[in-house]
Amino acid sequence: MLFNEPLAFSPRGQKPFFISFEGGEASGKTTQANILYSRLHGSGLRVTLVKEPGSTPLGQELRAILKGRSFTAASELLLFLAARAELVEKVLQPALVQSAIVIADRYADSTLAYQGYGRGLDLGLIQDLNSFVTRGIMPRLTFLLDLPPEEAQRRLAQSQAPLLGGPGEGWEARPGVGRLEAEGSRFEAEAMAFHQRVRDGYLKLAAAEPRRWRVLDGRVAKEVLADLVWGHVKEMLAAS
Ligand code: TMP
Repeated sequence: MLFNEPLAFSPRGQKPFFISFEGGEASGKTTQANILYSRLHGSGLRVTLVKEPGSTPLGQELRAILKGRSFTAASELLLFLAARAELVEKVLQPALVQSAIVIADRYADSTLAYQGYGRGLDLGLIQDLNSFVTRGIMPRLTFLLDLPPEEAQRRLAQSQAPLLGGPGEGWEARPGVGRLEAEGSRFEAEAMAFHQRVRDGYLKLAAAEPRRWRVLDGRVAKEVLADLVWGHVKEMLAAS
């Protein structure tokens, strides 16, 4: 198994490295981010794992606000960006300065995919605002866990999880964003179209920057995915 092979890099000469996980709902990002964190940490490396929105006190509050109410597309965009500004200045940049490997469970690309491609807000504007709040700090490696919305719907129906939340959290259903209906196990037609736009958007982002992105089939078993992720990460770290 890939995990058991010796690392071609050593904790002593560790350099900063930024990895992000992106994808639609129920694509397995969080699981893969956690597995990667354990593997790197278990290899003796300094690793910081962050989740967006969240991972700072303001980020946590904004997560709670975002999940409970309905917003205009513009205010939703600005709330996600506010959480990111806080994360970059207080957690992400300091970790990279200390040569840690940072793993982000969602980052700037989520905003392009959801508020840009999904909601239809101006992509150039989002890019400018992303540059402002990220201070230009972007991942060297981004995994897209690609999953058809129909498969996401099936997974969520099985788990009874809300579509837009983390484990056990219910994000309010709102037009154009959508989530699993409170009692049911299907996307609304509008929500399905939204999630399809998000997926297509992600694929466009990945195609535009193939050196940064690795597109993985989110339907594959999580153990197989974890080994694929590990293989890519080891290769990139060895080359960095
Ligand atoms: P998650 O915890 O399952 O990743 O859910 C976070 C939700 O927030 C998910 O539906 C995607 C959404 N989101 C955006 O719409 N824009 C963003 O910039 C970020 C970070 C998340």
